[in-house]
Amino acid sequence: MGKILVVGPASQMLGVKIAKELSIDYVNTESKTFPDGENYLRINIEDEGVIEGKEVIIVQTTGPSSSANQNTRLFELFMMIDSVKRMHAKKIVCVIPYLAYARQDKIFRPGECEFANLLVGMINSSGIDELYVVDIHAPKVLEKTSSKTINIDSMEILADYIKSLGAKDIVVVAPDKGAVERSKAFAKHFGENVPVDYFKKTRDVNTGEISMTGKLSLENKDVVVSDDIIATGGTMANAIKLSKESGANKVYAVATHALLLQNARYRILKAGADEIIGTDSIDNNASKVSLAKAIADYLR
Ligand code: R5P
Repeated sequence: MGKILVVGPASQMLGVKIAKELSIDYVNTESKTFPDGENYLRINIEDEGVIEGKEVIIVQTTGPSSSANQNTRLFELFMMIDSVKRMHAKKIVCVIPYLAYARQDKIFRPGECEFANLLVGMINSSGIDELYVVDIHAPKVLEKTSSKTINIDSMEILADYIKSLGAKDIVVVAPDKGAVERSKAFAKHFGENVPVDYFKKTRDVNTGEISMTGKLSLENKDVVVSDDIIATGGTMANAIKLSKESGANKVYAVATHALLLQNARYRILKAGADEIIGTDSIDNNASKVSLAKAIADYLR
């Protein structure tokens, strides 16, 4: 079965890189917003025969950016899926490096919904055969899918990048207790017995305000503060400030999905970070590490 990759409007660089890694053809899309606010998308082809009978890999991340918000990105995704399905793709493989709404996976206040679960269910039932995401916030939301679903781990390539910067005497710091297991797995990529520690974070469920406390033994250590997502940067900035107060030497702010909303960059750098490092799940100037090879290795 031949393969073709559809480069979604939100993953133009990453989509092309994955296609090149796989040495397969690729096509892009044409998208716009109608005057009434509805989204429009077409796969940019003249001959529908290029899709028919093929394995079609759709690459579309769903993070917000200055070009479009996550709802638009999700609608574009559904439109691409529906379009290739109508054109009789033989197999539909969906790569969504950053899955929007993944943090809405549990109930914090009465009356809320678990939208992450619903969204994964909607994608799963849209006619796809395989779903690939990267470091999803709560992997358990993938458990009920009928299609083959893989959560790709970006930790090794992020660690390789940090090592290439010459970091030494590394301590991995999790910004809260919930991130400790992930940080332990991350630390293994820096060598045996690399310490992992964490600060105590609480978030006001009504206002979203966070507070963080703790003092760690970080004197003269290079500290890697690692999280899955940087959104407003509040979590990272707090953890970096406390790391510096705990004696850290260099501090690297690392996240798979560095959304860097509002004044996140400023907050993180002002708190004392030497560098902000993310993957190209989000295409911005913190995307220092490309997921292309890691994703292509799974798709091969
Ligand atoms: C929360 O559980 C996540 O893992 C991140 O810590 C959080 O999304 C970061 O958000 P912000 O950058 O707005 O503090």
